[in-house]
Amino acid sequence: MLPNPLPLVVVRAATPEDAPACGQICYDAFSTISGGHGFPCDLPVPEAGIGLLSMMFSNPGFYCVVAEVEDRIVGSNCLDERSKIFGVGPITIDPSVQNRSIGRTLMQAVMDRAIGQGAAGIRLVQAAFHNRSLSLYADLGFDVRAPLSCMQGRTLQRSVPGCTVQPAQLADIKVCDIVSRQVHGFSRTVELAEAIQQGTASVVEREGRITGYATVLAFFGHATAEANLDLEALIASVDSFGGPGILVPSQNSGLFRWCLANGLRLVQPLTLMSVGLYNEPAGAWLPSIHF
Ligand SMILES: CC(C)(COP(=O)(O)OP(=O)(O)OC[C@H]1O[C@@H](n2cnc3c(N)ncnc32)[C@H](O)[C@@H]1OP(=O)(O)O)[C@@H](O)C(=O)NCCC(=O)NCCS
Repeated sequence: MLPNPLPLVVVRAATPEDAPACGQICYDAFSTISGGHGFPCDLPVPEAGIGLLSMMFSNPGFYCVVAEVEDRIVGSNCLDERSKIFGVGPITIDPSVQNRSIGRTLMQAVMDRAIGQGAAGIRLVQAAFHNRSLSLYADLGFDVRAPLSCMQGRTLQRSVPGCTVQPAQLADIKVCDIVSRQVHGFSRTVELAEAIQQGTASVVEREGRITGYATVLAFFGHATAEANLDLEALIASVDSFGGPGILVPSQNSGLFRWCLANGLRLVQPLTLMSVGLYNEPAGAWLPSIHF
């Protein structure tokens, strides 16, 4: 048990060796908050948290920090720096020391870093039922941008007439980037290139040209397309979605209703938030759990 008030909180860069301690905290923090509200935990087992943070702590595209009190790790946070817009998360604090300003300190650390690196904006996705994170992020300057519905399942319709989905190739990046710029106003080519190398990315073609792409149909993937039809084809092309599910913007009524009519189940509501540059998307999109 750490004393109250807390001794000095030290923030430092995370290393891959911190992943076991931070991954366990990540699992404990999410299972406690989700369980307390009757929602399934985003991570099935502690090892999933450890694997996730091992990957982020060793990817040069991420800036990750840990908080220590008296040499004990009490939390961590990550910043995805792979585009002009930076994405925050997962941030998790040891449940035994939550609500004692460590989260605020770790949020401020990555926000300062984003400003120092010249990010055009910072975004994150939070669990809508979590009063504390919503209040903290709003207080730090994040605006609520979009309600999201995490959805899971297998669509009844297994393909969309007129659309073909196939694995994305490195040569597709250029045209996918045009779609990304048209819809969001910025590039996400580093994420797409990594996903292509990992073999998870797909593109959709309609009328003989690429009209959208997905890095992966999963909690950690994003998809961008010209129209709902294209996203529906991408969604219908897989048997299930990685992690808890895909994030469907709830205000996209056409897509949301198509998902419901196709048997997908709503797992939990979330909220996209941003500070800095934000353009209302001009097309169809599924954000990742970062943005
Ligand atoms: C969310 C989380 C990272 C925040 O870290 P923390 O150290 O617990 O939070 P902090 O004490 O730094 O900040 C919480 C702030 O919210 C405020 N707050 C908490 N509940 C609130 C409520 N119901 N209404 C208004 N404000 C509230 C607190 O007063 C505090 O504000 P202050 O700094 O002005 O005092 C942490 O609680 C956690 O790990 N939760 C579980 C995992 C999770 O949900 N992670 C976020 C994923 S999006």
